[in-house]
Amino acid sequence: MVIVRTVEELQKAKEGLEGSIGFVPTMGALHQGHLSLIQRARDENDQVIVSVFVNPTQFLEGEDLDAYPRREAADTQICERAGVDILFMPTIDQMYEPDELCIGAPAIRGYILEGEKRPGHFDGMLQVVMKLLNLSSATRAYFGKKDAQQLALVMQMVRNYFMPVEIVPCEIIRDEKGLALSSRNAYMNAEEKRRALCLSRSLKRATKMVMSGEFDAETIKKEMNDVLQEADQVEYVAIVSRDFKQLERVEIGNTIILVAAWVGKPRLIDNIWI
Ligand code: PAF
Repeated sequence: MVIVRTVEELQKAKEGLEGSIGFVPTMGALHQGHLSLIQRARDENDQVIVSVFVNPTQFLEGEDLDAYPRREAADTQICERAGVDILFMPTIDQMYEPDELCIGAPAIRGYILEGEKRPGHFDGMLQVVMKLLNLSSATRAYFGKKDAQQLALVMQMVRNYFMPVEIVPCEIIRDEKGLALSSRNAYMNAEEKRRALCLSRSLKRATKMVMSGEFDAETIKKEMNDVLQEADQVEYVAIVSRDFKQLERVEIGNTIILVAAWVGKPRLIDNIWI
C-alpha cells in the first residue's frame, strides 16, 4: 500500500495503476462499516483507493470538527490489511485554496432534514466529494446508505455534472444489538449506547407496521416517536421517497424512513429502505 499526502503524490501513484479503480471516501476513525465499503470496492475493482480527510467545509460553526476522532495509525493498519492500494491522507491546504469556486446543494433536497438542521453541510460535503472523485479517477465510488441524503445528493451531483463514475450504495452495518455503526458512537458511554438502540428499534417498529399493512406515514411516525422516548431529543422522523420527496403513504420499493436524534453527546442518524 502506498500512502500519499499531496495531490502530486496521488497523481504519481495512480500512474502505475491498471484497470478499474474503486474509491472509498472517508473521514477516518474507520470501523466495520467503512471496512465493508472497502471490501466491496476490493471485490469489484482492480485497484482500491481510500481517502481519509476530515473535511472542514462540511462542519458547521460549533460542530465537532476539532473533536472529530482522528486515528491515523489505526486507519493505516486497517487499510493495509484490507488490501488497499493507495491511501490518500491530504492536509487541508492540499484540498483547498482561498476564495474557492463552490458548488451548492440543490435548493430543496439539499435543505430539508439533515440540510435543514445543518444548513450548508451538504454544500461542503458535495464540494469535497467532487474534488475527491476527480482526484481519484474512480470507476466506482462506495457510499453507505446510512447517510441516505448524502448518498442521494452525491448521485444527483454525478448525474447533473455528467461525472464518469458509478456511485455504489452499500448496506448499513450494525453492531450485534442493532446500533448503526458510526465514528461518533465513540462519544457515547454504555448507558447512552443502550438508549441509542431506540433509533433502530423505532425503524423495526415502522417496518413491522408496514408489513402488517399500515402505510399511513403520520400513523407510523407517531408510533416511532413513542419508541424514541429514550433519546434525549428527537430532531426528525421522516418518511420520504428515494429521491427525498415527503410521502403521505409508504410506497413499497420507493421509501426511506429516517430518524435523527441526540443521545448524550452525539447526534445520531439511522434509516431503513422499504
Ligand atoms: O460520509 C463521510 O464520511 C463524508 O461526508 C465524506 C463522504 C467522506 C465526505 O467528506
